[in-house]
Amino acid sequence: MNLFYKLLLVFLISILSLSCTSIEIPLEEEPEPISELVKYNNDVKTIIDSNCLNCHGVSTPRTGRIALYNFIQVKREADVGSLISRMNNSIYPMPPSGKLSAQKLAIIDKWKLDGFLEN
Ligand code: HEC
Repeated sequence: MNLFYKLLLVFLISILSLSCTSIEIPLEEEPEPISELVKYNNDVKTIIDSNCLNCHGVSTPRTGRIALYNFIQVKREADVGSLISRMNNSIYPMPPSGKLSAQKLAIIDKWKLDGFLEN
């Protein structure tokens, strides 16, 4: 191998390793720890209203089988239904378009931990 090819090889290897090191693998989104009590009226309702009512609302429960438009219904589905597991399910998530942010999921988890408070 002559010098030209050796240099070319070194050049190519450095280009390759540079482009490899510049690839950034996104880190798993880490939710902020929640210290205050989570309540349905303050924290949970807006998440459900803006992400679920299209298909689980007053006039649409047949779309999504269950209704999620008030505290009693959301609490029941979170407590004894599959609301939390479906919201965390990567294969069959709710909403079907994809899991909500880790922060929103953490709020729902904390709501359960705090005992499904209403207000
Ligand atoms: C685009 C419409 C749509 C949206 C938005 C949506 N869902 Fe659903 N959901 C469905 C449909 C359709 C089903 C029934 C089929 C299935 O289980 O996948 C369902 C089923 C479910 C079930 C299982 C019900 C049961 O017991 O059979 C839960 C729990 C649920 N959704 C929760 C949620 C929550 C919580 C949100 C918001 C974070 C949400 N869904 C948003 C359409 C939707």
